[in-house]
Amino acid sequence: MSIKTFILAAGKGTRMRSKLPKILHEIANRTLLEHVYDTSKQLQNNEIVVIYGHGGEQVKESLSSLEVQWVEQKQQLGTGHAVLQAESLINEDDTVLILYGDVPLLSLNSINGLLQHVSSSAMGLLTVKLNDPQGYGRIVRDSSGRVLKITEQKDATEAELLIDEVNTGILAVKGQSLKKWLAQLDNKNAQQEFYLTDIIEMAVKEGVEVKTYQPNQADEVLGVNNRQQLAYLERVYQTEQANKLMEVGVTLRDPARIDCRGDFSSLGQDIIVDVNVIFEGRNKIGDNVKIGANTSIKDSVIGDNVEILANCILDNARVGADSRIGPFARLRPQAELDEQVHIGNFVEIKKSTVAKGSKINHLSYIGDATIGSLVNIGAGTITCNYDGVNKFRTVIEDGAFIGSDTQLIAPVTVAKNTTIGAGSTITKDTPAGGLTLSRAKQLSISAWQRPVKK
Ligand code: UD1
Ligand code: CA
Repeated sequence: MSIKTFILAAGKGTRMRSKLPKILHEIANRTLLEHVYDTSKQLQNNEIVVIYGHGGEQVKESLSSLEVQWVEQKQQLGTGHAVLQAESLINEDDTVLILYGDVPLLSLNSINGLLQHVSSSAMGLLTVKLNDPQGYGRIVRDSSGRVLKITEQKDATEAELLIDEVNTGILAVKGQSLKKWLAQLDNKNAQQEFYLTDIIEMAVKEGVEVKTYQPNQADEVLGVNNRQQLAYLERVYQTEQANKLMEVGVTLRDPARIDCRGDFSSLGQDIIVDVNVIFEGRNKIGDNVKIGANTSIKDSVIGDNVEILANCILDNARVGADSRIGPFARLRPQAELDEQVHIGNFVEIKKSTVAKGSKINHLSYIGDATIGSLVNIGAGTITCNYDGVNKFRTVIEDGAFIGSDTQLIAPVTVAKNTTIGAGSTITKDTPAGGLTLSRAKQLSISAWQRPVKK
């Protein structure tokens, strides 16, 4: 069976009150359209077609990496009209699956359930019962429960408005039938639109059975029309992510206060995550890792038994096993820490390697540096890596001890086991071992008198 998935995404999204086309708004750092794409991409033998319109060029540009065919619907004359724009792409023996670009959380399970209903003598329609069916097309059935048609809210009779089973808009049908029915659509209705939903009545007339399928959860078929719905679905999505983490053995101090905007290439056991932690991109986290409150971790690799204290930011960093980070530490891209490294408060590390057992505990900037093992870097030490134009490296070899408030003017190398006196400005390479310092001699003038007011 080959599938053609049509994602309808031409709508304007007026109620978002946004300059951005609706489908480019994001849930968990991924656009609404990409969520739909990601799910349908998992179907075998599937080609995806996106019907775009409003904000067209911007949509195509920002999503140019998607493997889809783009078909423009210049004027939004209804869901049937939208599908008609891509009619020539439908092969008679295709199964056509209709999805909405603004319904981001539909599951693969539900799609598969729906697709199983499709045959030459039946089509599948995804419906759901809602407490408040207001605004949706109603599923009209006969006395024996067979679907007869869909009536849109604006065309419905009093009796039809009482029906609580609604059309999600998602359906699947054989290409041959669809092509025939599309040709028969008209816009003689309250909204003067070409309704895709009119094909249901055509199917019934021809003896094609309309089989309905319900998603596991109603939230799966909710659309985004305004910022409230966007925020609601973000929470639904995040609840799902939190549940997945707990299922694989992660302790979440509060599953309602964690955000996963991305995924994990692997997750160890007995990870403990405190409140307000944000995971972004793709992270890898080892066993027994503790992550403190208010920490963001993006595209990073964290070894076993690492403890990250509260309020840290990690971006593209690697932290070796048994290390301790924070509180208030910032590991920027290419911060690569070996095992048993300690990084303390108000320390920033960028594009630097720190070998096993080294400590940078307080108020330091380490950029473009290579730091050996068992190095101790005192409070307030700065690698001066930038002359305003170019960047240079600082090398600190094994066992060095850098006194507090030292500036290392790169390029410079501090050799093995050197001790640097506190408050030094180091401009030249140091010899191994011994003490190096650059410090004005201390002076005391006992005869000095404080000035007096004139
Ligand atoms: C449609 C259904 C309705 C269903 C509801 C579910 C029709 C006639 N009605 O209602 O039965 O209960 O969805 O949300 O199908 N779109 C286009 N081009 C257009 C019009 C719409 O691409 O010309 C896209 C929109 O971007 C959106 C989707 O189709 O992703 C649905 O459009 P929307 O206007 O929200 O649907 P309704 O007409 O309200
Ligand atoms: Ca709608």
